[in-house]
Amino acid sequence: MFYRSHFTQNSKYPRLLLFFTMIASGWLNHLDAQIAQSQKNDKNQIEVSTTEFQLIIQPISLYQNSEIDILEFTYFPTSNKNKWHHSYTVPSEKRNELLKNKVPEIILQNGGNTPETKRYTIGKYIVEVIPNPFNVCIREIDLKNSTISPDNQYANSAVILRDKVNLPWVNEDHKINKNFELQESFFIGLGEKTGSTNRKGNAYTMWNSDVPAYGLEQDPLYVSIPFYIGGTENLNYGIYVDHSSKSYFNFGAACDYSSISVEDDHLRYYVIFGNAISEISTKYRRLTGHTPLPPKWSLGFHQSRWSYKSQEEVLSLADEFKKKNMPVDAIHLDIHYMDACKVFTFNQQQFPNPKSMVEKLKAQGINIITILDPGIKVEKDYPAYENALKQDLFLKYPNGKIYEAGVWPGLCNFPDFTNSKTRQWWGESVKFYTDLGISGLWNDMNEPAAWGKDVPTYIRFDREGHLSNLTQNRNIYGMQMARATREGAEKLLNKRVFTLTRAGFAGIQKYAAVWTGDNVASDDHMMLSFKMLANLSLCGVDFVGADVGGFMNPATPELFTRWMSIAAFTPFYRAHKMIDMPTSEPWCYGDINTEINRYYMQLRYRLMPYIYSSMQQNETPVLKSMAYFMNLSSANYEHAFSEKFESQFVLGNGILVAPVKSTEKSKEVFLPQLPTSKSWYSIYSDEKFASNKTYFVNAGMVQLPVFVQAGTILPEIVPQKIENTQSKTDTMNLHIYYNTDGFYEGYLYEDDGVSLKNKDIPQGTIRISGNAIHQEITFQIEKSNGFEFSFKTIQFVVHGISENQLNNIDDNPKPHIFEVNKQTFVANTAKVLETKIPHFAIKQDLYKIERVTKTTQPIYKFCIGMPTETFTLKIK
Ligand code: GLC
Repeated sequence: MFYRSHFTQNSKYPRLLLFFTMIASGWLNHLDAQIAQSQKNDKNQIEVSTTEFQLIIQPISLYQNSEIDILEFTYFPTSNKNKWHHSYTVPSEKRNELLKNKVPEIILQNGGNTPETKRYTIGKYIVEVIPNPFNVCIREIDLKNSTISPDNQYANSAVILRDKVNLPWVNEDHKINKNFELQESFFIGLGEKTGSTNRKGNAYTMWNSDVPAYGLEQDPLYVSIPFYIGGTENLNYGIYVDHSSKSYFNFGAACDYSSISVEDDHLRYYVIFGNAISEISTKYRRLTGHTPLPPKWSLGFHQSRWSYKSQEEVLSLADEFKKKNMPVDAIHLDIHYMDACKVFTFNQQQFPNPKSMVEKLKAQGINIITILDPGIKVEKDYPAYENALKQDLFLKYPNGKIYEAGVWPGLCNFPDFTNSKTRQWWGESVKFYTDLGISGLWNDMNEPAAWGKDVPTYIRFDREGHLSNLTQNRNIYGMQMARATREGAEKLLNKRVFTLTRAGFAGIQKYAAVWTGDNVASDDHMMLSFKMLANLSLCGVDFVGADVGGFMNPATPELFTRWMSIAAFTPFYRAHKMIDMPTSEPWCYGDINTEINRYYMQLRYRLMPYIYSSMQQNETPVLKSMAYFMNLSSANYEHAFSEKFESQFVLGNGILVAPVKSTEKSKEVFLPQLPTSKSWYSIYSDEKFASNKTYFVNAGMVQLPVFVQAGTILPEIVPQKIENTQSKTDTMNLHIYYNTDGFYEGYLYEDDGVSLKNKDIPQGTIRISGNAIHQEITFQIEKSNGFEFSFKTIQFVVHGISENQLNNIDDNPKPHIFEVNKQTFVANTAKVLETKIPHFAIKQDLYKIERVTKTTQPIYKFCIGMPTETFTLKIK
């Protein structure tokens, strides 16, 4: 059983001797005695075989361009070829689809430093393999500087990733260790992790854990995403380890190599190629799935606490938002809405008529979101319990006894979400909420959390028919709960629903938004949160947020307000508070703070067209850390990991936010060099800053440092009253930030905000581009039949040019009416408003912080053009 028939000429031992040696001493100690070979098979794969393990190297193209984007490595025990359990992130259907894309042929070349070395070229990559023990080196050929001769190409190639040999790669604790030589100067990724953005010199564990008030360096937390990017200034690669077992990542912590270790005897990982961080993260999304466009309302402000305890309290909370003139789209109901914390129930005393409560709120544009925990109370006649018991859906010990543990309701059983029957049952049970008009569901405690913490490792999971234990399935549990919730509710409602989860795994973006769990009301936690969010976004999870104000402990007014202002620029925007804490709504921190909170909440809603459009463009991270841009210039590279700038982030493509601690009044910021422009503008003053430099800027409580990249076209709406995402206006402002380099980029997407499958539904887009030669900005409008834009007039607000230059804009001053698919738009002539204050400026009287209504920017009103026709705006 230890044997395969592959024998090489250089085999050191006769078969029989090897066989007895291995039997006698145990296979783990005898890997170096393996007999092995490497060859290309007829499926255009490289197959490396030893007596114990087999490795298949599979080139993959993600697009239909016949180039190679990924090398997939699959190790499995030779004795059990079919030992591969279900992948929830890259399911076999998805993988099979990808394998249909053409890839370059694997060509065996002459050469190699040792007689056993086999060298293959695959497109612009060279793969060298020494089979005994597994030793692989991936090199990239510098095609520009090499001829077609293989020797010349080899001479002009650089190592991307090389196995570190002479280390055990199988051991009893972690089962499989993959070790790599350490040439990288940085490692970024791994999703929801604490600590510095550059992971070099640190080690991490993937093991979803319930960690209230987690430490600033604590690991692991709730979510596991085994994807990282390693590289130097010039070379990058990504690795996604497609294995949900408990795993360990070491990036040179107390050793001179990096390693991946999984607690299993088989392993698959994908090495993802790309020139820049952006390219690798886009390819990772292609592989593991994109964040679907959420319902528009869920991008508004969410108010939560543990817990709003009655129907009256919830309704008067909604009234309070109106009285305080603060926008809100969602109110969360934490565990007290339930009867004794039992999921799929409402507490009849405190919430006698949830349906009418939900309806009343909906009429005001406010959505209710209810929490769902996986633990089902063990209680006779409790329908959820009886039902799941009858259908045999709970997790069990190997002897068949159902696993029990204490959570909020008391002793609970836990649905096995790795069983499709369970997911179906749960998804159907969600009807309890959808029947009440609820389309927001918050999945909590799904690590799963249980009092006493340690779920025994030998608890059995179905894993789609591949029975396995907690070690393999803990990391996937929360994602499968979120999947069951999302798929169930979407099927019931046939529209987009909002799902939120605490635990997750790679690919969780397809099923739920993620919040970063039970953080703490401290400046350090706040600053950490933005790093974590950008890092999650790098790893494909765009709909992310942290509990604003900090969950544990009371926040100071300054901290709460700072957090509210910064988080206004993060995708999921929710204030949440621990039980038994002082009230913590945005008006609870004094008059001035209330004013500032209102300003930033409203600013978020004004920029909602930008945020919604950014979420719709899901090929790149919505939140980008400075590290994302590091390959673009050496100054970026130098500053990407500086502690001073690590919390900075770019929302979408054009807005840079520099978070500031609540105790600080000024801030050093770094403005990175992006490909399309060389400068940034302060959003408040329009002051222009050259990129690639650091600056000290004022950062008083009122003005969070926010910058807009030159060339950005920022859509904004200013409804008379901003109550929620349904508040509309006839005019769409497009803010044009003058770019000396002539490049402009803008994108606006609209649809009805709730329909599923955004490709087929009525929708409209406006794409705006600029060209460097004539400083012309071109607008293209497209809309599908039947779609009505929410506005009738577009108003251009030009930032950063003098009136003198503006006068030349006015090429076509005549008012006229355009028609686009039967929707007419009023055309207005150009107009310059003359005041002294920039558009986004904040007027700061002691007790009055207001948006300034008149602006000094030249305002140019124009109609929307036709789908077939584009029109241009000229700037001298
Ligand atoms: C967990 C959640 C927290 C919630 C609490 C009560 O601690 O992380 O957000 O408020 O449980 O349900």
